[in-house]
Amino acid sequence: MRGLAVAVLAAGVAVAPSGCGEQDDEVVRVGFSQFAAEGSWRAANTASVRAALAPAGGFELEFSDQEQKQEGQVADLRRFIADDVDVIALAPVVQDGWDEVLGEARDAGIPVVLVDRGITTDLPGAYATRIGADFRSEGERAGRWVREHAPGARVFELQGTLGSGAQTGRQRGFDAVAGDQVVGAATGGFTRAGGRDVTAAALEAWPDVDLVFAHNDDMALGAVEAVRAAGRRPGVDVRVVSVDGTREGLRALAAGDLEHVVECDPAFGEQLAGVLRRVAAGERVPDRVVVPGREFDRTVTAAEIDARTY
Ligand code: AHR
Repeated sequence: MRGLAVAVLAAGVAVAPSGCGEQDDEVVRVGFSQFAAEGSWRAANTASVRAALAPAGGFELEFSDQEQKQEGQVADLRRFIADDVDVIALAPVVQDGWDEVLGEARDAGIPVVLVDRGITTDLPGAYATRIGADFRSEGERAGRWVREHAPGARVFELQGTLGSGAQTGRQRGFDAVAGDQVVGAATGGFTRAGGRDVTAAALEAWPDVDLVFAHNDDMALGAVEAVRAAGRRPGVDVRVVSVDGTREGLRALAAGDLEHVVECDPAFGEQLAGVLRRVAAGERVPDRVVVPGREFDRTVTAAEIDARTY
């Protein structure tokens, strides 16, 4: 199935290969390199992808989790190539440094789909598409909320893993709208402990900070802990704006500990399954599949919080 699929993709042909109807019934062998289980968003993303790529859906999944290590993900991709999977799904921990291994996948005729985060590459045809949120828009929407509701606030930007698509996109978006309000920034690595420790240090370094823009909910919850530990009141002395929309994040929003949350939806496993099936069958797919997200404020209801799956 896959040799034909890649030939069609490379030729840029917009039709499915002949015999595609019979091939739809075939099992699609997928190698999925996830980079971590660092928090609740990532766990939900992994669960959604694994459920959608189950044998009942016609998939055979080789799954790997690499503890935030790019070298481990490169090794994953080489193993998937050696195993001759039909298609590779890569959730890249950082943006840079993928060209060599993606060139190997391309030479082996195995298409790659980026999951969640994007990459920077000079390699033509490095990947078929990327499915995931628009991180820049998330940062812009958080910035617009700050501009409108806290125009005089002095902002500490609690960034995600440096060099990751989620960090660079959210930073660029926020800075484009409210960058002049940022007095300091540091990374908390997208983890709750990182968010707590880095915010504690920031409140000492910049005592006049009165708003934290956290690149995800886990770090935002850590920031709230640090604000309290510093003897200051979250939501009163220091406001916290965040991205994700986890159940715990929305509970903190309803309780007044967070101000505003831009949603980043991790549960796109079914959409990914459709894309992988099409790519493996040699169909053309859009270069980019955007997973939409809404925004939450203090009007969030108990029913909305209970309905969260993560
Ligand atoms: O890449 C998406 C981000 O990664 C999510 O916002 C965050 O929670 C996760 O670590």
